[in-house]
Amino acid sequence: MEIADAGGGQERYRLVVLTVLVALLKATSAAGGGTCGLAELTCRDGHCVPLDAYCNGRDDCGDGSDEPALCTPCNRTYHGQEGRTYKLELPRPVEGRLPFFCHLTFTAGGQGHGELVQLLWDAFSIGRLDSTATDFALGCPEGSLQLAELGRPFTGGFWCGAGEGRASYYSETSTVTASIRLFHAPPSVPFKFRLRYRFVSRNEAIARLGKPEMPIERGSPVPGTYCSRNFYECHQKQCRVQSPNYPGEYPRNASCLITLRQKEVPTCKHAMISVRASPTGPVGLAINNSTLSVWQDCPFDRDRLIFRDGSRLEDPILLIYCGGPLPRITARGTTMLVEFRSSPLAMPLGASALRIELDVQVVYVDSDGLDYARGPQGCHFFVNETAKRSGVLRAPLHALPPGSSCTWNIKGATGDRIWIYFSSYSQRDLTGALENNASTQVDSGCAVKVSFFDGTPMTGLPMITLCDETPKLCAHAALRNATRMTRPCTSDESYFTVTPSLTLRMETVLGTTLHTVNFQARYEFVSTLQGGEAWGDGPCSRIWRRVRSGEVTSPRDVRLFGRGGASRLECKYRIEAGSGERIRLTLHNISLGEQTSCTSEPDPHTGRPRCINDINSREAHLILYEAPWRDVKLPRACLCDNTSHLPLTHISAARALEITFVVDQQAPHEDFETLFFYASFELIRAPECPRKQRVRGEGGELRFVAPPLSRPDIYCEGLPWLIEARENRSLFVLTWGWFLPLEPPPVTESSDIPKCPTTNRILLYSAWASKLLKVICPAEPGAREYTVHVFSEEWLGGAEGKWPGPPKPPALLLDFVAREPGQAAASWLEISKSRSALRRQLRLPERGVENETVTNGDCPHRCPELGACIASSLWCDGRIHCPSGHDEAQCGNGARLLGLLPPTMWLVVAGVAGIVTASACLLVILIGPRHAQEDFTTKERRSAISQDERRRKRLSWVQHPDSSPPVSWSTSTLTGRRQSSDTTLYFTVH
Ligand SMILES: *[C@@H]1O[C@H](CO)[C@@H](O)[C@H](O)[C@H]1NC(C)=O
Ligand SMILES: *[C@@H]1O[C@H](CO)[C@@H](O)[C@H](O)[C@H]1NC(C)=O
Repeated sequence: MEIADAGGGQERYRLVVLTVLVALLKATSAAGGGTCGLAELTCRDGHCVPLDAYCNGRDDCGDGSDEPALCTPCNRTYHGQEGRTYKLELPRPVEGRLPFFCHLTFTAGGQGHGELVQLLWDAFSIGRLDSTATDFALGCPEGSLQLAELGRPFTGGFWCGAGEGRASYYSETSTVTASIRLFHAPPSVPFKFRLRYRFVSRNEAIARLGKPEMPIERGSPVPGTYCSRNFYECHQKQCRVQSPNYPGEYPRNASCLITLRQKEVPTCKHAMISVRASPTGPVGLAINNSTLSVWQDCPFDRDRLIFRDGSRLEDPILLIYCGGPLPRITARGTTMLVEFRSSPLAMPLGASALRIELDVQVVYVDSDGLDYARGPQGCHFFVNETAKRSGVLRAPLHALPPGSSCTWNIKGATGDRIWIYFSSYSQRDLTGALENNASTQVDSGCAVKVSFFDGTPMTGLPMITLCDETPKLCAHAALRNATRMTRPCTSDESYFTVTPSLTLRMETVLGTTLHTVNFQARYEFVSTLQGGEAWGDGPCSRIWRRVRSGEVTSPRDVRLFGRGGASRLECKYRIEAGSGERIRLTLHNISLGEQTSCTSEPDPHTGRPRCINDINSREAHLILYEAPWRDVKLPRACLCDNTSHLPLTHISAARALEITFVVDQQAPHEDFETLFFYASFELIRAPECPRKQRVRGEGGELRFVAPPLSRPDIYCEGLPWLIEARENRSLFVLTWGWFLPLEPPPVTESSDIPKCPTTNRILLYSAWASKLLKVICPAEPGAREYTVHVFSEEWLGGAEGKWPGPPKPPALLLDFVAREPGQAAASWLEISKSRSALRRQLRLPERGVENETVTNGDCPHRCPELGACIASSLWCDGRIHCPSGHDEAQCGNGARLLGLLPPTMWLVVAGVAGIVTASACLLVILIGPRHAQEDFTTKERRSAISQDERRRKRLSWVQHPDSSPPVSWSTSTLTGRRQSSDTTLYFTVH
């Protein structure tokens, strides 16, 4: 039993069986008498037989009344009952009766007699097909078949020759007429016309109309045309474009225009019409044929489909198709025109190649996105940085007609550069190029040519041109999502422009319907702008020289951050004021990312913010330095968490400030969004420090008072003292107080730690490395029991070359931290080792017996308790330099004479400067220290000096009154270095 509709299934079988049973029942009841139905023939005796019993060569009525003499099935109209299959066969016409004309009309009568007609040929052969004929009228010289439907325009065109397979025809209307003509019948040419026919209801025509509960939207027919249709609003319906008379044969010389149109588009969306071969429908020959036939393979005399990007016949053609696996075709906009044309040329029945069904889809994309070309005239995308600093470029999601090109112009702001990486790129040739050269012959050789220009479309320099090649890929970037980060794209995986704009150009000679291009590229505007001027080597180190005000910010160049592939960010900033100026810097915010576990808390010694890094935490902080000299800087604040201490304002004591911003071990997702700081500064007027606080020489004394009283003390407040030794010498500092641990332990367990009664501190740094050596709790200057000694690091060995650059002679920084009223003092000495001592320290063999007490040539003046040689000029100069007072102990008469002098006020220059004059020397002798025994370290005298007496000898720095020549005991000849006189300082005892 033949099934009318290929889309049926088991249900259909049941239906057929049922209807057959009903028909049999009817037939037997009809035999009992009464009138026969529409689909029946009344025998002479009155009983009914099916209509196809007429002239079928069998005596169905039993009395021969259905087989009259010379009968013919031609020129009759056939009806039938739904669900029943009827048969019809034309015998070969007799040679002498040619030409033979025969019209067979099949009419579905409705109401149990079907609504559509289905014709199935079991055999078909009429005449020969002249496939060389170019005129369609001559293609069937011996005979042909034509089909026409009532109420549809006649298309013309013929079928002839031997049919291919079992052809079928499904009417669109209720009446079909098959017209058979035969002009010549050579015996060698067979004549076959064996047909089954059925009348089916619309509900049964599932393949064409869909299931009743889910009908297929076939568009609305255009009146007056054979098969033109309009589709609207396919976003909600199951729209299918079908070949005429789908799923059966379609007539020859038929032409239809199928317009697909979407009118309703949500705001902010753009709709694109897309079609593809329906996966569910029964497939025609076209799709079974494995070779894709397109463009040149589809001349006008082949059945073909033409897809246009738009609704008009002038719109660009996306594809001409005539067979093979049809790819998805997406139009640029809301309309697409599909033109169906069957060839006018004759062909064998059953050879309709384009019995196909296409699914229609509406694809929505964001209307402001870059997924589709905006205008019909070209595919140009313009991206600038005003809306966002990064985004994604994609190949257009719609097909491009042959010969089109797209450009993407990505334009950044001044100072920007563009970073672009492709997370995916694929190009497919759906033509199966190897088998089918015809459709892929391109002059340029590239189906898709992608060019990169560094700059604007007009002036850009070519970066790279890709001819059907894949650009540098950063494929792992495609795996990124909100919770997952992959490693950064390297320079081998991405492109970077030099100028602020990038132009991408994609040329597709063949269009992209069959040469599909898909890519996803992420672009980013990388800002290279930074304030100030470049400074040093670092990519982000900047300097502001005498700029009245400005902003200091971390860089925004992603290449310096984890996301750009860097691990460590280190930026240094320096702000320099002019003379008579200082810097007021305000740090507004700072962020060091989630990965940093570090807290800023006040330093117990200074109260300044310092950083406490958790163990295993990375290094990430901002340090603010005071830079009193070009080669020396002192930390003033360290910040490493995002919240505390802000805003922080610092007014410099010196003329320069430096900031170091360091983050190492950056994670691949970190960038300037999470790692940054922002500070602003302005220069303010302030008096210059009149003193030279950077000293060198053989020795001297320093004095600190808080709050400052004298003008220099006020003007120099906050500045440290820098003491430099000369080549091959070391430094020794004596001060009063006691050492505190650099890192004070928690208060609870500080039983044996000396408590410091004051919050003031003396901090001693190794100058070049800015390394804190000692923290001293200052005691009353001169308090014998509280003398502390500090040597520069190399004196005890080691500490060489701890700072970058060539080795320098040792230098110490003294920073007095004044947090409450108080005072402190220190004296320093430049010392050296005797050769033998040096040799011992370096573990070289002793050279003979050298008795050091018998003053050796290289160390005539020695402080035995230090094991150090001091300058001969300090020996017996009336001032104690060796802590024991050894240098003034055996000085003979002079000293004794001095010892007799009354304890009047005396002035001494703190060994840095001055001009040696005879009178000055004399003055020193006259008003020098009253007693050599007054030496604060002389043991036998220590107990004799009461606390009160010491307090009376309060010391303070004062500027020398007016311009009278300084009374100095330490002169330029002694220091070996002439220094300007304005740094001369006076030491007084009241
Ligand atoms: C059918 O009718 C046509 C005229 O309409 C006639 O020419 C033809 O001979 C008829 N065919 C047969 C087989 O009688
Ligand atoms: C398949 O396509 C090729 C090329 O268009 C054609 O020559 C061939 O006849 C087709 N085969 C069928 C079965 O249609």
